[in-house]
Amino acid sequence: MIKYIGSKRTLVPLLSGLAAASEAKTALDLFTGTTRVAKAFKELGLAVTAVDLASYSEVFAKTWIALDGGSANLAELQRAMAELNSLTGKAGYFTKTFCEDARYFQPKNGERVDAMRDALERDYRGSWMYEPLLTALILAADRVDSTTGIQMAFLKNWAPRSNNQLALRDPGLLAGSGTAIRGDAIALASQLEPVDLAYLDPPYNQHRYFSNYHIWETLVRWDNPETYGIANKRIDVRGDDNRSAFNTKKLMPAALSQLINDVRADTMILSYNSDSWLLKDELIDLCSQRGHVEVIDVDFKRYVGAQIGVYNKSGEKVGSPGAKRNLEHVVIAGDKVRVKRMVNSLV
Ligand SMILES: C[S@@+](CC[C@H](N)C(=O)[O-])C[C@H]1O[C@@H](n2cnc3c(N)ncnc32)[C@H](O)[C@@H]1O
Repeated sequence: MIKYIGSKRTLVPLLSGLAAASEAKTALDLFTGTTRVAKAFKELGLAVTAVDLASYSEVFAKTWIALDGGSANLAELQRAMAELNSLTGKAGYFTKTFCEDARYFQPKNGERVDAMRDALERDYRGSWMYEPLLTALILAADRVDSTTGIQMAFLKNWAPRSNNQLALRDPGLLAGSGTAIRGDAIALASQLEPVDLAYLDPPYNQHRYFSNYHIWETLVRWDNPETYGIANKRIDVRGDDNRSAFNTKKLMPAALSQLINDVRADTMILSYNSDSWLLKDELIDLCSQRGHVEVIDVDFKRYVGAQIGVYNKSGEKVGSPGAKRNLEHVVIAGDKVRVKRMVNSLV
């Protein structure tokens, strides 16, 4: 699975358990990111709607949530992947920008990305396979990158995995139906169809995902943007578009309060990092507008970057890792009997 800061890989079993005990049939994942949680809900048989601001996240959600893998022609997808894997690399924008001017990937792999991405646009735009193939390409690039998992900087020396040859693999489609939406959770919350269960996993600091994962944005948009700085970020990272209220300490509490109020769901689950801007009691206060509230504190392994060290923009180590454990508050709010049943199901 892709390296993604704030991803809830380790929380998935707990969230799945809660969803199952809620007996929900429909669910909403409002900050879906990698779609890990939405996928787990879909695997439980729920009809899931996955929302996120990021373009790459929409591609993931179209692949894993909206597409019914049960009725997809998987042999056709395998043939398309084999064809793309057999292409000869051809240096283009991606190679120049991310492998020569910056060093996120080795040029041999950048050339393969350029060749595959051009072919995807030329031969698969409009096909049901477009998003699964693009997902497979992002995952393949992630497996051979030379970063600590965010694209603020690249490592000074090539990461060993970057020597491997980039190759597409089956992204593993899931049976069932769902919906993928790219947009602002705050604007969408009151517009979306009511659901049984909503999961909220907002960002918890000032670092924007648009900036942290600018290469995936560019790989999806394929718009050859002008870039700036050593990290070669898209020029529009500097602008005000693609900003989220959740990345501003001053705006975040009101944004979260409005969202909690607006979301149309019987039960809501919110996860929030204990290191961050809102205290546990403030979270409980915000969520109590939805009924009974219970909190589960999960000892959550810190993002791997914090374990490896602190790096400057040239990928040089400039600091030591901080404390390695922190808590994730999982707040559950709604009807008292149901919320208690959900929490009790975990013991
Ligand atoms: C903590 S991550 C979610 C991780 C996700 N649960 C997972 O396991 O992969 C927060 C996500 O919120 C998205 N985001 C930030 N602001 C948003 C907004 N206003 N509306 C919708 N999504 C937003 C980011 O793009 C990012 O993917």
